[in-house]
Amino acid sequence: MESIQILDAKKHVGETVQIGAWVANKRSSGKIAFLQLRDGTAYFQGIVVKTEVGEEVFQLAKNLNQETAVLVTGEIREDSRSKFGYEIGISGIEVVGESHEYPITPKEHGTDFLMDHRHLWLRSSKQHAIMQIRNEVIRATYEFFNNNGFIKIDPPILTGSAPEGTTDLFETNYFDQKAYLSQSGQLYMEAAAMAFGKVFSFGPTFRAEKSKTRRHLIEFWMIEPEMAFMHQEESLEVQEQYVAFLVQSVLDNCDYALDILGRDRAILEKYTKLPFPRISYDDAVELLQKNGFEDIQWGDDFGSPHETFIANSFDQPVFILNYPKAIKPFYMKPHPTRDDVVICADMIAPEGYGEIIGGSERATDYEFLLEQIRNHGLDENEYSWYLDLRKYGSVPHTGFGLGLERTVTWLSGIEHVREAIPFPRLLNRIYP
Ligand code: 4AD
Ligand code: MG
Repeated sequence: MESIQILDAKKHVGETVQIGAWVANKRSSGKIAFLQLRDGTAYFQGIVVKTEVGEEVFQLAKNLNQETAVLVTGEIREDSRSKFGYEIGISGIEVVGESHEYPITPKEHGTDFLMDHRHLWLRSSKQHAIMQIRNEVIRATYEFFNNNGFIKIDPPILTGSAPEGTTDLFETNYFDQKAYLSQSGQLYMEAAAMAFGKVFSFGPTFRAEKSKTRRHLIEFWMIEPEMAFMHQEESLEVQEQYVAFLVQSVLDNCDYALDILGRDRAILEKYTKLPFPRISYDDAVELLQKNGFEDIQWGDDFGSPHETFIANSFDQPVFILNYPKAIKPFYMKPHPTRDDVVICADMIAPEGYGEIIGGSERATDYEFLLEQIRNHGLDENEYSWYLDLRKYGSVPHTGFGLGLERTVTWLSGIEHVREAIPFPRLLNRIYP
């Protein structure tokens, strides 16, 4: 008898198979027990009929506790009434691991309780669906960049320099020196672009941000492409194609997860249409001021109510172009005709999900960068390797960073970024 995963049920209809699973829930009436099972790939139903299995197996089935691990044997059948479409007609059950008083019951629990039990909460169907979307975004990321001539380069996690400002760094000891957990791999990716042309990274990044919002994690994963011989306009095209590809991949490959999350496919479809709209920072400020946001002045950074208002003025993700130089990092390319803005863009997701991409063209001029490094209070010795890139064959180049968890939160249509990563690191939480 073959052991299978229920995800492959289609290939085994009518066959008797064995499946390793956990009991998520159960109900029974006089002569029949319905087990809600999960085997890691999907949730499915197991039917135990007393007259078929006999008294002993029937009693065992009826008394299984939530999250008991079992090996079930039975016949795979089509089941048009269930979302999943297949069930197993159980003939035998072997208990592999007992479970007593599983803390997460089918009733409602508060968020703190669920977060304290994240190691178990991950088993629930909604969390399972979100992780499948996350997995698809990761898979599609590799496909997109591999198909477009990029090579994956891994920047270090322990670093000596701070690309995104010095206020939210995690400092650690590196023998007798100081080191920081990476906020962004970008500076290393710029070096890599000069070596390989088009590169991307995908790895964890860390920000000791004292922000307690539904968009901020302390540890999050970022995809950072960097492209040599490329100006900003072309990078925006790569960005919108990439994001549309992610949306399409989720639509194509995550049917089951989208059903569980109740995510409306018609809404997601709109995000596969290109191009995405673009609005300048200047015009965005004007739009906000005209619509009653009296708090915003030219030069201010946008907060989440501002981003949400701008996003709601469009039907798709929107690029906000060319922010004030004073509120952006040191490495961005100055505007050719204005010295108050830089050549950059943030992509703002629709439906109030906020910024999912930050990117820019990079400054190429050695003297300008050195001055910027000094103006930002950074130690020029720590950046001498970065400045070297402007000494030996400096070329126009541009890149961006997409936040994985914000993207997954948006595509899943969920409330909070903490559910888009298996074990979130938050301001007040490092366990489990
Ligand atoms: O806009 P950011 O800070 O840009 C950079 O780090 C650049 N060095 C990227 C580059 O050009 N290579 O961050 C990029 C993205 C944001 O748009 C957001 O999606 C995500 O990273 N992000 C966060 N996600 C979750 N929690 C946080 N605290 C985040 N901070 C940024
Ligand atoms: Mg940003």
